Amino acid sequence: MLPVSFHPDLQKAVSEYSPPESLRFGDAKAPVMFRADYCNGQWQQAELLPYGPISLDPSVKVLHYGQEIFEGMKAYRVCQERPQIFRPHKNWRRFNSSASRMHMPEVPEALFMAGIEWVTGYCEHMIPPGSGQSLYLRPFLFATEPSLHVSRSDQYSFMVIASPSEGFQSGSIEVLIEREYTRTAPGGVGSAKTGGNYAASFYSGERARQLGYDQTLWLDPRQHTYIEELSVMNFFAVIDGELHTPELSGSFLEGITRDSLIALARQQGLVVHERPMAVDALVADIQAGRCTEAFCCGTAAILLPFKALGEADGTRYPLAHPQGHIGAQLKQQMLGIQEGRVEDQLDWMVTVPEACRPG
Ligand SMILES: Cc1ncc(COP(=O)(O)O)c(C=O)c1O
Repeated sequence: MLPVSFHPDLQKAVSEYSPPESLRFGDAKAPVMFRADYCNGQWQQAELLPYGPISLDPSVKVLHYGQEIFEGMKAYRVCQERPQIFRPHKNWRRFNSSASRMHMPEVPEALFMAGIEWVTGYCEHMIPPGSGQSLYLRPFLFATEPSLHVSRSDQYSFMVIASPSEGFQSGSIEVLIEREYTRTAPGGVGSAKTGGNYAASFYSGERARQLGYDQTLWLDPRQHTYIEELSVMNFFAVIDGELHTPELSGSFLEGITRDSLIALARQQGLVVHERPMAVDALVADIQAGRCTEAFCCGTAAILLPFKALGEADGTRYPLAHPQGHIGAQLKQQMLGIQEGRVEDQLDWMVTVPEACRPG
C-alpha cells in the first residue's frame, strides 16, 4: 500500500463529526480529506488530514488560468458489509486522460486509489445506508505554482474530499434544446472533466430554468444539429424499442454511467446504437410516437427520465413514457449492483480494504 501520513487531529475530527440534517447532494462534507503535492517532477508524501480550508498564494495558476481537473464517483454501503466503490479504475483512467489534455502530470493509480480508499475507509460509518444514498467522492488536481506567467504550472495538488449525499435529483425532467449557446467544440476540452466546462454551462442552465426547464441539452457547436450531452449527464432515447445514444465525438464527456448502461442493456439483449443523433429527427420520432422515452445518466443522479424536450419559445415535445420504462429497469439494475442487491457479474464494485478504517 502507498505510504500515507496521518495528521494528529484526524481521529478527533472523525469522532467529533455529527451527521448533517440535510443530505442534499454535495452540501455536507465528510470530516477528512486526502492530499498529495507534486513538485520538482515528483509526487511528495501523501497525507490524510481533517477536512478544512487550504491556504493558497493569490497568484497560483489555477486561479488565473483554470488548470484544474476533477472526478465524481460514489462509495456505497447499503446491503454491503464493507463499503464498495463503483468502477473507480475507470474514473482513474478518465482523470489521467483529463490531466493529459490539460497538460498536467498524471496521478499514479496507487495514489488515486489510496486517496479514495482512505477517505472512504475513515468515513465508513457515515456513509448513509438508504437506497439512493452514498458517499460522493471528489478527487481533484489543480495548479499551485505561484506565478502569473501564462504557462503550464510546475506544481500541483491532488486532493480527495467527500460528501455523504442523497441522489442528485429525482423525478422526471423537462429539458431545453439549447440552439443558441454552445459549451465545447471538436478539438477542445469537452471530453476532459475540467472546471471551465461547467462554468461555461451555468449561463444557459439559468436561462433554461427561467424558461421553465430543468436542464440544458447541448448540441454540436458547428451545426447546432446533433445531440451531445447535458451539462452533467449523457443522453439516451428509446426509439422503436431500441436504445440510441450519441456516439463519442471527443467533444463531450465519456460517461461511466453511459458505458455501464450500454453494457447492462446489451447483456439483456437490448439493441444499442451509438450514432450521431440529429435533434430534429428525434423530435419527429417523438411526435410520430416512435421515440417513447428519453433519459440522461450520470454518477450523481444515475438516470433521470424526461417528461419533455422543448424550445426556448415554450414549444414542448412530451414523451409518451415520462417515468421511463426501459430506463427505469436499467436504473433499478444498476442501483441493485451498486447497493449490493444484484449480483455484480461484470466485477464493477471494488471493496475498500479493512486496513483503511480509522485506528
Ligand atoms: C459533462 C458531463 N457529462 C456526462 C457526465 C456523466 O459521466 P459519469 O457517468 O461518468 O458520471 C458527467 C458527470 O460526471 C458530466 O459532468
